[in-house]
Amino acid sequence: MAKILGGLTTSHIPAVGNAIHNGLFDDPYWKPFFDGYPPIRAWLDEHKPDLAINIYNDHGLGFFLDRMPTFAIGAAHEYRNEDEGWGIPQLPPFPGAPEVSWHIIESMVEQEFDITSCQELPVDHGFVVPMQLFWPGAPNNPDMPRTIPISANTVQHPIPTLKRALDFGKALRRAIQSYPEDLKVVVLGTGGLSHQLDGERAGFINKEFDQYCMEKIVDDPEALTKISRMELVEKAGAQGTEFLMWMMMRGALGDKVVRRHSNYHIPISNTGAGTMLLECVE
Ligand code: DHB
Ligand code: FE
Repeated sequence: MAKILGGLTTSHIPAVGNAIHNGLFDDPYWKPFFDGYPPIRAWLDEHKPDLAINIYNDHGLGFFLDRMPTFAIGAAHEYRNEDEGWGIPQLPPFPGAPEVSWHIIESMVEQEFDITSCQELPVDHGFVVPMQLFWPGAPNNPDMPRTIPISANTVQHPIPTLKRALDFGKALRRAIQSYPEDLKVVVLGTGGLSHQLDGERAGFINKEFDQYCMEKIVDDPEALTKISRMELVEKAGAQGTEFLMWMMMRGALGDKVVRRHSNYHIPISNTGAGTMLLECVE
């Protein structure tokens, strides 16, 4: 049976990809951010997951405003980085796990989540930067597990509610746990925390709200479902809606989790950068 080991969250800022490329790990601006990752890598080294379900939000690469699925699941053999930011690094593709994807899609639809299934899906920084933070050198890291990308719409309103995101995660948990073969799974939630990249509030960051979300998501994610989408945009900024990915990840972990690690640093580029490792308790 497949088993969910835990959840990993991280912001997915494109400038991080550039900082990795240029080896800026000890640079004074970047160090407090990169220092958030070695404890998570040590945990991954110890537990060696076989599969990473990477819940991210596409930023107009795989889907655009003319066709915007609310929830999309990758069902491809591999996923290519075609990110638009900082030039396109020539990376080999990230290996998929289509047989697991189809099982999950089947189960999600059975549980009345209507899914867009993607047999081709180019991936952007929302997917790639977290993979490189958790598995340095990815996809050229032999310890990197196979991946399944899951994207939700945070770009074009109406976006899902926080409750719907948490419920999606709960259904995803049942989908993963019903996979008959032995697989150790980690679930990534990438994006956030507060940021707004455009308009009058460009540069907006809300430390207090970010810290409230990081606290509540551990033991009381239901409390966060009381936040309306308007309130989320108001408190977290227009792109702070990416917190939906964290809620989807959290739903997949079950009721009880242990926070093994967490880091928060502002600003990284325009964003409140949060990182967490939540371990599942059976
Ligand atoms: C930034 C953050 C994001 O989440 C993103 O998708 C693009 C840019 C930023 O802070 O620069
Ligand atoms: Fe983003």
